[in-house]
Amino acid sequence: MTGAGVSVESGIPPFRGKGGLWESFDPMEYATISAFLKDPKKVWDVLLKAMKEVMDKAAPNDAHMGLAQLEEWGYLTTIITQNVDGLHQMAGNTDVIEYHGSFVKNYCMDCQKNYMISDIVLEQTPPRCSCGGIIRPDCVFFGETIPYENLMRSFEMAQSCDVMLVIGTSAIVQPAAMIPVNARESGATIIEINPERTPLTGLISDYILKGPAGRIMQQLVTEIKHLRE
Ligand code: APR
Repeated sequence: MTGAGVSVESGIPPFRGKGGLWESFDPMEYATISAFLKDPKKVWDVLLKAMKEVMDKAAPNDAHMGLAQLEEWGYLTTIITQNVDGLHQMAGNTDVIEYHGSFVKNYCMDCQKNYMISDIVLEQTPPRCSCGGIIRPDCVFFGETIPYENLMRSFEMAQSCDVMLVIGTSAIVQPAAMIPVNARESGATIIEINPERTPLTGLISDYILKGPAGRIMQQLVTEIKHLRE
C-alpha cells in the first residue's frame, strides 16, 4: 500500500508535513466536491493546475521501479495506492488499485467523454469538453465516496496477503488507513517504509524501515537479488 511519500522523489509534493500541498492550499477551500461544484474555475486555476504542472513532468523513481521488480519476480501481486499520479503503472505494475481514483484520467461531467490530463490545455479554465461540459479529474474529492470496487478489492487483498509493505503514507486519512489494520488483524506482517513514524508504527506495523522510499526499496531489491542468486 502506498501514499504520497512514494512519489516525493519523483518531484510530487506530499499533502501533509513540510512542503506539503495542504500547507499552501486549504483542502476545505480547494479539495472538497462542494468547492469544486461551486467554483470549478477556482479549483482548476489553483490546486489542479499545480498538480498538473508537477505530474506532467513526473517519472517513476527507485521506489516505483523496485515495486515493479518485486512484481516481476513474483513476490508482489497488487498495489493499493492512495496516489492519483499513475506512476506505479508507468513503472510496470499491472494490478494497481487506485483507491482515491486517478488524476491521469479526467472526464466530462455532462457526456462522460474521457480525457488524459496530459492532453488537457489549461489556457481557459475550467477545461471544457467538445460538448461544452466541464471536465473534472477522475479522482475522489473530499466529500465523495470511495468507488465500491476499490473498497472491496482492497479489503480482500488486505485479508489475504502474507506481507503488506506500507510505503510513504501518514496513515491518517480514512478509510484508507484501516487497510493495514485489517491486514494485520488477518495475520499479515506489516512493514512500513517511511522517514517518519506514523500512527501505525509500533502498534500495527511489525517493522519500520526508516528512510526515503527510493533508497530503501533499492536496498531491499538488492538484498532480494543476492538471496535469489
Ligand atoms: N519516502 C517515503 N515516505 C516519505 C517520503 C519519502 N521520500 N517523504 C515523505 N514521506 C512520508 C511522510 O513522512 C508522510 O508519512 O510520506 C507521508 C505523506 O503523508 P501524506 O502527505 O499525508 O500522504 P498520504 O498518506 O498519501 O495522504 C493520504 O490524504 O489529502 C489526502 O487524498 C489525499 O491520498 C491522499 C490522502
